[in-house]
Amino acid sequence: MPKNENTMKTLTMAEQADRHVLYEKAVQSPESDIEFFTETYEKLRGKKALIMREDFCGTALLSVEWCKTDPERRAIGVDLDKPTLDWGRKNNIQVAGSDIEQRVQLVHGNVLDDPKDKADLTCAMNFSYCCFKTREQLRSYFENVRRGLKDDGIFVLDILGGTETMDILEEERDVDDEDFVYIWDQDKFDPITHDMICYIHFEFPDKSRIERAFTYEWRLWMIPELRELLEEAGFSKVRVYWEEFVDDEDDEDEMEGTGVYHDVTEAEQQESWVNYIVAER
Ligand SMILES: C[S@@+](CC[C@H](N)C(=O)[O-])C[C@H]1O[C@@H](n2cnc3c(N)ncnc32)[C@H](O)[C@@H]1O
Repeated sequence: MPKNENTMKTLTMAEQADRHVLYEKAVQSPESDIEFFTETYEKLRGKKALIMREDFCGTALLSVEWCKTDPERRAIGVDLDKPTLDWGRKNNIQVAGSDIEQRVQLVHGNVLDDPKDKADLTCAMNFSYCCFKTREQLRSYFENVRRGLKDDGIFVLDILGGTETMDILEEERDVDDEDFVYIWDQDKFDPITHDMICYIHFEFPDKSRIERAFTYEWRLWMIPELRELLEEAGFSKVRVYWEEFVDDEDDEDEMEGTGVYHDVTEAEQQESWVNYIVAER
């Protein structure tokens, strides 16, 4: 068992863990996002998307995986948090080898800063844009995204919704093939402002926990609001891609997502859903 060198105390599993590793394993699914980006861009534009800007990139895992899927692909990751970018450079970019290292550019900056290079596709994943809490702030972010896209570029964002998103709740999930539990904690929701505070905690088999490994102070935006703001920011066409659900083979009362998304104009409400919005420049 590893010990703390100063105290010689045995370290708990939580003390030995790295919260970025846990986050990437529990929350991110770069393969499915990239499959969606690739197919959607090809369907809308009839060619391959090569340059991706990953706004709010955090550890830039998605940017690295994007470049791995095609030797011609490049990625630009933008994030305000230098320690998180440094972690991503060391643990994701450098370990991927010099070819990938040359094709992923990290920008330590604000997603509201003037974008230098134009992208085929810009993404804002895991609801990060919800840190903008007023229509003015979010519209100016969307305007900036549009400025940073090529003429035929597209913007992809994900959105969290469903009847449960306004509840105060804690949801636990075992992470596939891992020995820790991911806990999503919706701690506060204000029905007047739609301000919400959520946390991610992790729990280990030795019962140790990382409390509030990540904290989110968001406004819970609704699809019609996002659509209106994207249009006000100048995007020509805004589409909603909704995940197809089928009966769960193991539990007849439950439905399960297929990972296949369709461009729809109507959908059935669910307790909880995560879907994509795609805006064409
Ligand atoms: C929820 S994490 C998203 C990480 C990653 N994109 C993902 O999909 O899991 C939000 C990230 O946004 C960054 N961030 C917040 N506000 C920002 C801003 N105005 N400009 C750039 N980055 C920002 C934070 O530093 C944090 O790394």
